[in-house]
Amino acid sequence: MAGRLFIETVGCQMNVLDSEMVVASLRKVGYELVAEARDADAILFNTCSVREHAEDKTYSALGKLKRLKLEHPEKIIGVMGCMAQKDQQLIFDRAPHVDFVVGPGQLQRIAALIDEARKGAEQQLAVSLGRRDGTREAIERSHETFDPLRDPEMRPTPFQAYLRIQIGCDKFCTYCVVPMTRGPEQCRTPAEIYEEARVLADQGCLEVTLLGQTVNSYEHRGAGATTRLADLLVKLQDIEAIRRWKFVTNYPRDMSSELLAAVRDLPKVSHYLHVPAQSGSNSVLRRMKRGYTVEQYREMHARIREMVPDAAVSSDFIVGFCGETDEEFHETVELVRECRFKNSFIFKYSVRPGTKACELLPDDVPHDIKQRRNHELLSIQDAISEEDNAGFIGRTVEVLVEGLSKRGMRTAGTQAGPAQLTGRTPCDRIVVFDGDVALTGQVMPVKIHDVTAHTLIGELPAAANRDQLLPLYAGD
Ligand code: SAH
Ligand code: SF4
Ligand code: F3S
Repeated sequence: MAGRLFIETVGCQMNVLDSEMVVASLRKVGYELVAEARDADAILFNTCSVREHAEDKTYSALGKLKRLKLEHPEKIIGVMGCMAQKDQQLIFDRAPHVDFVVGPGQLQRIAALIDEARKGAEQQLAVSLGRRDGTREAIERSHETFDPLRDPEMRPTPFQAYLRIQIGCDKFCTYCVVPMTRGPEQCRTPAEIYEEARVLADQGCLEVTLLGQTVNSYEHRGAGATTRLADLLVKLQDIEAIRRWKFVTNYPRDMSSELLAAVRDLPKVSHYLHVPAQSGSNSVLRRMKRGYTVEQYREMHARIREMVPDAAVSSDFIVGFCGETDEEFHETVELVRECRFKNSFIFKYSVRPGTKACELLPDDVPHDIKQRRNHELLSIQDAISEEDNAGFIGRTVEVLVEGLSKRGMRTAGTQAGPAQLTGRTPCDRIVVFDGDVALTGQVMPVKIHDVTAHTLIGELPAAANRDQLLPLYAGD
């Protein structure tokens, strides 16, 4: 059944990739994308459950569609993603005008679900088994990857792509819903991953980011050989067209020296490591059940600095986790000062039903203290980022041009001459500079003359000098 499709995506890279796959699968059966929900025959929300705020926003967006559905009952509304798996029937209770709910492990059913709904089916629920609802094998089978289709048109930038190498998570940090919503950790075969990377290369992809919740825990046991992330990276290097490889998110305990050696030695692998610490306090890490001590994190960080001295390391932190005292928070501040991360994502703890922390630990840090700690940590991190970025002034970096910057988009068409463009360095630093939008998708040298905490600001060398492109280099 052909029709018009609207999709809204929130959450992490996994969701962005799932949406790309869903759009590709629906295009195959005749759907075309539209930019407004009210113009669509099928409206999809790809949702995230990692914090309550993300869910609240989705429920409020769903609420806003109630009237549209009343006036146009033939329009189909579907909820997919992590909230679908977590809330299941609750979504129909809170938003009775939703036609179907489909978890991230059941996306191969989406075209059929829309079809059935358009034919007048009752509310349909397509979710995977819960973590205690069967044998490991049965649970694994109910969480299927949905990666066979690639749709370059769906990517915001066709020359960049995500490639999933692992689904699910088995770490069970006490605050986190992901092991419930995404199911058991499962690694795709090296052959599948390699094939998909070749398809991406054929589609003109220059930069591929390998995805996994704990991507460096990747391990595939085949006949006679075990493949880990370092081996996979080596294997992927012979795909010539792809000139940058990144991978996220890393788990501190699995940052092996073999992997760091691969990052150091393979010229196309970016010197960028996102490896969340979550806290700098051993007692908090223990309550979070993160599986390492702050000493082990420091040891890992020192090893990165030693083996890949120019690596950009970034982190995530949760502030105001259950029972976090001022002293514990200050241990996190210490770690941030010491490690000088390229950047940190800082989140206020949000209780998630179904997690161990929700069951066993009171959410006892008042909201205003969470807020204060969030601001304090962020301002310390930002000062560090700005100081370290200042070291780039006067240097030339290699930038993969992604298109108009936010400012470039605002001023598009209103001013003559070049627009402001944005792109990233191999180490994932954001660079803005003026240039012709036709440079999008190219790798250019940019000379930096100013910085903020989050951005390097530079200019293209004169056209005559551009041919002397930088040698391929994985650091900044
Ligand atoms: N798999 C990744 C991260 C997944 S979620 C990893 O292990 O690093 C992304 C980030 O959201 C986490 O790193 C954590 O900092 C944050 N997060 C997860 N659950 C949260 C919660 N309940 N409240 C606040 N932040 C949370
Ligand atoms: Fe969540 Fe921890 Fe798994 Fe990351 S490692 S997805 S934080 S349970
Ligand atoms: Fe959110 Fe699910 Fe990703 S909970 S962060 S969309 S894995």
